[in-house]
Amino acid sequence: MMEKVKVGIVGLGRLGRRHAENLAFRIPNCELLAVCSVNAEEVEQVQHDWNIKYGYTDFDRMLENKELDAIFISSPSGFHCEQIQKALNAGFHVFCEKPLGLYLEEALLVQEVVRKHKDKVFMIGFMRRYDKSYAYAKKKIEEGKIGEPILIRCYSLDPAKAIRGFMQFAKSNYSGGLFLDMAIHDLDLARWYLGAEAKQVWAVGGAYAHPEFRELNDAETGAVLVKFENDKIGIFVAGRNCAHGYHIETEIIGTKGTLRIGTIPEKNMVTVFDENGAIKECSDGFLERFEQAYLSEAEEFISCIRENRQPKVTVEDGVISTALGYACKKSFETGELVNVES
Ligand code: NAI
Repeated sequence: MMEKVKVGIVGLGRLGRRHAENLAFRIPNCELLAVCSVNAEEVEQVQHDWNIKYGYTDFDRMLENKELDAIFISSPSGFHCEQIQKALNAGFHVFCEKPLGLYLEEALLVQEVVRKHKDKVFMIGFMRRYDKSYAYAKKKIEEGKIGEPILIRCYSLDPAKAIRGFMQFAKSNYSGGLFLDMAIHDLDLARWYLGAEAKQVWAVGGAYAHPEFRELNDAETGAVLVKFENDKIGIFVAGRNCAHGYHIETEIIGTKGTLRIGTIPEKNMVTVFDENGAIKECSDGFLERFEQAYLSEAEEFISCIRENRQPKVTVEDGVISTALGYACKKSFETGELVNVES
């Protein structure tokens, strides 16, 4: 078994920096050997602060470094497909953030390349599957606790106070829009929990508190109704303007019971009692809410490489969720009921 898996990461932004920190300091069998970003200042800073051996502003140059075993991709979504293909073809194991692609065609190309490199580990960043509460709910379903799951209701709402940071993210690179960028986590969870594929979607949405979303041809807040196989039901709400914080909530209704995850998006176990009453503060954002999940998924990626096995979340999950997210986007833009391509 290899001693330490040597990793190079591309993308050192909002999430990439957290991944880099996890890889550098929190996984004993991993060594973060190289960092890459088009932003030279970020590269220098991270290299200097964390004592990282190699720094690159050009992804192709990083791939020439044969000391590396694996590439971790946390660059903007539009680069994922190209970078996955290049990294696999250069002989590396690959982890890539969601979404797999912004279009079904490019996601299918990636699938082909992943299938050609079966000896390489490939993992997509659907970290919610590695969150302890979401994994616990999955176990309950597998144990038959709620009978047959028939309906899923999901909220994925970004905090209103993070809107400026989000606008910067959305304007610097095309993200695919609300459904492909945000609702995609829920679309993946829905397939995972319901054990069924989506057939038809109807998405609506608009720009309410922030009209600038219209200029981006995107929805600030939106909802999707999805018909799954066997008439199972999905109800999805996604948004960027949640007053009370980062609200990620999921409900799975079965024939014998219901599971809810994150009904109150609590920051922690503290209740503040003051002149306003008894207050449970809410989660601030994805880095706080999914801290454990980001670490656990990276640990799983490294373990898969060392143990020569593939993770349970597959490239096919990446392709199908992309097709589904894209169908939602199309329905939102056309106002039509859309059949999901499969
Ligand atoms: P960001 O915009 O904050 O950071 C992007 C980083 O990539 C920056 O360091 C930028 O300089 C660098 N970059 C841009 N173009 C590049 C190129 N061609 N080659 C190399 N580096 C390049 O973006 P953020 O929020 O960190 O998102 C990155 C990815 O992670 C996106 O695909 C996003 O969908 C995903 N993401 C996933 C989340 C999750 O919960 N799983 C949460 C947030 C983001």
